[in-house]
Amino acid sequence: MKNKKETQNVSVEELLEKMTLDEKLQQLTQLSGAFFDTADKTAATGPKEDVGISDNDLPGIGSTLNYRGAEQVRRIQEAHLEADRNKIPMLFMMDVIHGCRTIYPVNLGMGATFNPKLMEECSAMAAREARAMGVRVTFAPMVDLVRDARWGRVMESTGEDAYLNGLFAAAQVKGFQREGVAACVKHFAAYGAPEAGRDYNTVDMSELTLREKYLVAYKAAVDAGVKMVMTSFNSLNGVPAAANRKLVKGILRDEWGFDGVIISDYNAFREMMNHGVAKDEKDCAYKAMQATNDIEMMSAAYLHCMKDLIAEGKISQMQVNDAVRRVLNLKKDLGLLEEPYRFLPKTKEEAEKTQKSEILTAENRVLARIAAEKSAVLLKNKGVLPFKKNAKKIAVIGPFGNTGDIIGFWNCYGNGNDTVKITDGVKNLLPDAEICFAQGVSGALDAVADEKEIEDAARLAAGADVVLLTLGEPEGDSGEGNSKQNLELPEAQYRLLEAVLAANKNTAVLLFSGRPLAIKKLSEHAPAILLVWQPGTEAGNAIANLVFGEVSPEGKLPMSFPAVTGQCPIHYDRFNTGRPRENDLSRVGYASSYIDGPNLPLYPFGYGLSYTEFSYGKARVSAEKLRRGEAIKACVTVKNTGMREATETAQLYLRDKVASVVRPVKELKGFKKVTLAAGEEALVTFEINEEMLKFYNAELEFAAENGDFTAYIGGSSDTKNGADFELVD
Ligand code: NOJ
Repeated sequence: MKNKKETQNVSVEELLEKMTLDEKLQQLTQLSGAFFDTADKTAATGPKEDVGISDNDLPGIGSTLNYRGAEQVRRIQEAHLEADRNKIPMLFMMDVIHGCRTIYPVNLGMGATFNPKLMEECSAMAAREARAMGVRVTFAPMVDLVRDARWGRVMESTGEDAYLNGLFAAAQVKGFQREGVAACVKHFAAYGAPEAGRDYNTVDMSELTLREKYLVAYKAAVDAGVKMVMTSFNSLNGVPAAANRKLVKGILRDEWGFDGVIISDYNAFREMMNHGVAKDEKDCAYKAMQATNDIEMMSAAYLHCMKDLIAEGKISQMQVNDAVRRVLNLKKDLGLLEEPYRFLPKTKEEAEKTQKSEILTAENRVLARIAAEKSAVLLKNKGVLPFKKNAKKIAVIGPFGNTGDIIGFWNCYGNGNDTVKITDGVKNLLPDAEICFAQGVSGALDAVADEKEIEDAARLAAGADVVLLTLGEPEGDSGEGNSKQNLELPEAQYRLLEAVLAANKNTAVLLFSGRPLAIKKLSEHAPAILLVWQPGTEAGNAIANLVFGEVSPEGKLPMSFPAVTGQCPIHYDRFNTGRPRENDLSRVGYASSYIDGPNLPLYPFGYGLSYTEFSYGKARVSAEKLRRGEAIKACVTVKNTGMREATETAQLYLRDKVASVVRPVKELKGFKKVTLAAGEEALVTFEINEEMLKFYNAELEFAAENGDFTAYIGGSSDTKNGADFELVD
């Protein structure tokens, strides 16, 4: 073993020895597949400007992004190895975000499962499919903490809570990497807090909040062994992330000890000029290298300017060598230096075999279906759901009822044609029922209600036993670059709702969305609302199972649903303020409130109903005093008081009542899933220790302070079921 390791190290060092400075800079440059293959239809996002690459540079380029197709990858790699003097294989990277070919729900939906283990399995499945396509690095997990649903990229995140995001970050890293695909955690840092929810916008926040909340999940990914980190587009406290030496070198490398590869986001080096912190490309390259970015995605500032920077003594050869060494080590680590075609099928026959055994298999579909079932959140149910399976005539209505394009924005190799549509899913479950469909309105934001189509839909609804009404936003309306000013449903959809409900009250709304929407009006009118996000390839089967009661919904919101858009940003772990609002329903003068609406969200973080009901006994603690270094227990009895078996997620929140800095009114510190039969009860117990009470004080020291705390346990973040205890020496 020892010898092997030495040989491996020597090999990277030998390569480094051999490489010219130009070749090193090429190794640090990442280009889209289009540079190597004109037939490539790259799915890369961002402006594709003239990168300024000469033909001489191409043989030495270190990696590509979003290059598609196993055969093509092999072909490009072969040509590359032929042309590259040093025979260093290229590394193929891709945005495998919520599935590769078999698509599972968007990550926000996965967050609603409160099930990191399931996320790990889904990530592992995505990695197995991706590696068969030649992808060895995925630009995932995206773990940005999000509090503003106007930002379209909330769909890529697992939500507003630092603790939950940390668990999901680690789970994704483990899942991808255990199958031989390196993970790249992004977007470092705090990209999820752009001013006004507008993508790519400025982020300005206290270091206290940054450390306490926003950095937690990136750190969890680093601790889980993530091999790569992507710096973000945004400026953070005045400095664009890619140029932010204090953040990247200071926190990520020096404090956290991350010695893997750091990659920029798409063209982010050059965007330093737009930000106004670099006057030219050379300045960009200088700042990026000083911050210890290794790979430059889709620009060539290193290639164009590093030689001069070295000649001027501004950057050292050693800095460049360190960056190249990290890239080569990653290739070595992935087995690529020895086996450039690892996991890639050799022949057409092998490709067909892999296709059958790895891609979109029955097993993968089962996992995607389970994930979709567990991600759904029952927001409202006035005795409508589940529908009886003996329904003879079923109307599926609305823009998402008969389409496969409900798999989400980052669908990679996913294809709407593979999706089980809602109509198909219902047919699969109830082959003898008559299923009819009418779109009624289009899902577009600017859809205009066509009364004739709405009447047709209402007529179908009137003649049906049950109605599945699909509303919400299309998959392309969330995701990168898709910020929204208005989170309301389009008026045309309300018109359809009105007509359908007038025709048939036995209607359940299936809400499709990549973000929390402001659905106050919907919540007032619809008798039942099941939030299904963008559910992925198995959408129809999962939804049929949910709606007809084969499974009970168990998802819990990972992000608050605002009552109106104007509440954004909104999150449960807020501060009390000096003038808290006592009454959320009436107008309160000179309190921290609005004159035209509530402070509280429509549906809070952690909320989600079931087909049964759960009651919580009084929360209790095992001791009133917690000594430092020791632990106490907090527990509660959860009872299934309804008529059927189901799973509940009991959540533990802590409040530090008095501290040297303001502390949130509640913070999630644990959760447990209990599956209970009708009438059954269980004692749910959590341990509380000093570590869980730590926070950053004004001096940025991470420590717990003696004093009073409350432990809350309940089925959502708005629980008032608390027990007090005190931290003492
Ligand atoms: C830009 C996005 O911000 C990032 O998340 C993605 O990985 C890259 N484009 C590559 O597609």
